[in-house]
Amino acid sequence: IVLAAGSASAQDYPTQPITMVVPFAAGGPTDTVARLIAEPMSRELGQQIVVQNVAGAGGTLAGTQVANAEPDGYKILIHHIGMSTAPTLYRNLPYDPTTDFLPIGLVTDVPMTVIGRKDLAPTTMAELIPVIKEQGDQLTYANAGIGAASHLCGLLLMTALDTQMTTVPYQGTGPAMTDLIGGQVDLMCDQTTNTTGQIKGGEVKAYAVTTKERLDALPDVPTTAESGLPDFEVSVWHGLYAPEGTSTEIVEQVSAALQKALADETVIARFGDLGTAPSSQEEATPAAHAERLTSQIELWRPIIEQAGVYAD
Ligand code: MLT
Repeated sequence: IVLAAGSASAQDYPTQPITMVVPFAAGGPTDTVARLIAEPMSRELGQQIVVQNVAGAGGTLAGTQVANAEPDGYKILIHHIGMSTAPTLYRNLPYDPTTDFLPIGLVTDVPMTVIGRKDLAPTTMAELIPVIKEQGDQLTYANAGIGAASHLCGLLLMTALDTQMTTVPYQGTGPAMTDLIGGQVDLMCDQTTNTTGQIKGGEVKAYAVTTKERLDALPDVPTTAESGLPDFEVSVWHGLYAPEGTSTEIVEQVSAALQKALADETVIARFGDLGTAPSSQEEATPAAHAERLTSQIELWRPIIEQAGVYAD
């Protein structure tokens, strides 16, 4: 009887709105990606997807909440590269990304940009580099907490330049961007989904994009390699997850809705405007995303261990 009831609910799914938990503040890059896919996925699933921001502890608060949620498909998590760095960064992480979640699929892989407040003196990355090296402790660097992509990018930048800046943590790079525009902080490295508009509008100064090639959305912004940092490359992948124990049918159904959303012309165009692209249909599957997650955890572990940065 229990089995029959279980399969019946998977068959009827979804019969009520689904909550998509965003691990950072509203108005930031993860929130933007979530809201972009929520609407077409809702259409596909025939139920509303409600985006809920559960910010804190570099995205691990939301991870903990969804790991402990009922595995019924009504609470899912969108999370980025932090899903793979948190197991090394957090000594007491209350969940294991590989065993407490079922991957649904990859959503997108977003380039980053090194940006500064608009009246910061250096005008190019080449000018900025010696300033960071020599006066790093006098510069403030905004991030979204340990485990955030902005934290990771800052860590890589400071390691590459063998210096430290004064870190200012926020609940997300949405609110951090407000302070950068207001001139309360000096620098940030953040995803193009949050920075393209402000760069184009001249509200912040763009120093570099963290990709091999320049971006169509920001053709005038040089790459880190062009600016004297040849090995400095980082992008921020985002994935969807359901709590472990969710039925395979439900995971497959949500994954199919994700794939449909990612093929939507409006979604493709909007991602393009924001300097990125939806992931391929092949990557937006549970199996492909499980592989990515495992390999990313392995990739980042030694890098973080070498940097020696941990949170409790
Ligand atoms: C956010 O949505 O605020 C970001 O993804 C934060 C970050 O990871 O830097």
